[in-house]
Amino acid sequence: MNAVEVLEVTKRYKKGAVAVDGASFTVEQGAAFGLLGPIGAGKTSIINMLLSFIKPTAGTIKIFDREVATQFHEVQNRIGYLPERPGFYGNFSAEKNLRIFASLSGVREERDERIAKLFTIAGLEGKEKDLVRAYSLGDRKRLGIAAAMLNEPELLILDEPSTGLDPQGRRDIMALIHELNVHDVTLFLATHNVRDIAEICDVLATIQSGRVAAPTTTKGFIATVRGTTVQLEADVANMNERVLQAIKSVKGVKSIECERLKISLDYRPGINEDVNYIITRAGGRLRSMRESPSLEEAYVRMMGEERVE
Ligand SMILES: Nc1ncnc2c1ncn2[C@@H]1O[C@H](COP(=O)(O)OP(=O)(O)OP(=O)(O)O)[C@@H](O)[C@H]1O
Ligand SMILES: [Mg+2]
Repeated sequence: MNAVEVLEVTKRYKKGAVAVDGASFTVEQGAAFGLLGPIGAGKTSIINMLLSFIKPTAGTIKIFDREVATQFHEVQNRIGYLPERPGFYGNFSAEKNLRIFASLSGVREERDERIAKLFTIAGLEGKEKDLVRAYSLGDRKRLGIAAAMLNEPELLILDEPSTGLDPQGRRDIMALIHELNVHDVTLFLATHNVRDIAEICDVLATIQSGRVAAPTTTKGFIATVRGTTVQLEADVANMNERVLQAIKSVKGVKSIECERLKISLDYRPGINEDVNYIITRAGGRLRSMRESPSLEEAYVRMMGEERVE
């Protein structure tokens, strides 16, 4: 079943240009779907239409087979939402905030047990009584996710969950979101950060100036973006012709220098592991891995080239 179905959707704001331009795509139930696009591409506009905050100028949106335009109330309880800047009552404790949100969204049964469990899931144990104004941005996002999970949603919509976080905070929040997907929550994640998507989404669609491209697997997308070289350096104790031949026979290996083993590879997902396996089996150790350009650089470059056309 499809969790989300977007059909020929256009959004034109009253005074503005077209923010979403004939978008069509679907998200399967259970998927981790990423909507990837630069600032102003139309990501939040799409999310706001999924959540029935704003109406499409044209087109149809369905969530769990119900039309958002007419039947949103039937699916509302099955959706959780993390806004880009989650809003809380700063002068109340985190726990009190969740209690307020719980009563607003009609969660009554075993409310306090559920809230306690969500603090654990979100990694906020021990911070229940802290005032939200003392929370870091990373912890606020965690609390935002806990709030979004109050009604045990099947679909979680996240708008830029990692923006503004430091690298560790970003990794933690992405791990938390990934964990929810492992436990069967469908993810709809909008971001400009290709790394977020590479880490947790299995399918992605790019959006550029309101136009959404056909969804593709993340693996396939990364391979297209990259198309570049990876350099590996390794120490191999018993280097011999057999080990060299084994590495050479891995599809995508371009060249090998033998002094300290330097290997150039054409990037494809999994190739590093394939080569590393051979090196490790020969008693060797992977010393360094340099990817050039990085995934971010390659993506930004690709978007730049597309814009020039
Ligand atoms: N309420 C509004 N009225 C008029 N124009 C708007 C409104 N909201 C958004 N826009 C415009 O629509 C376009 C898409 O904006 P949107 O916020 O959907 O993009 P986004 O991909 O979420 O960007 P960001 O990465 O900055 O969050 C932008 O050009 C924006 O200026
Ligand atoms: Mg946005």
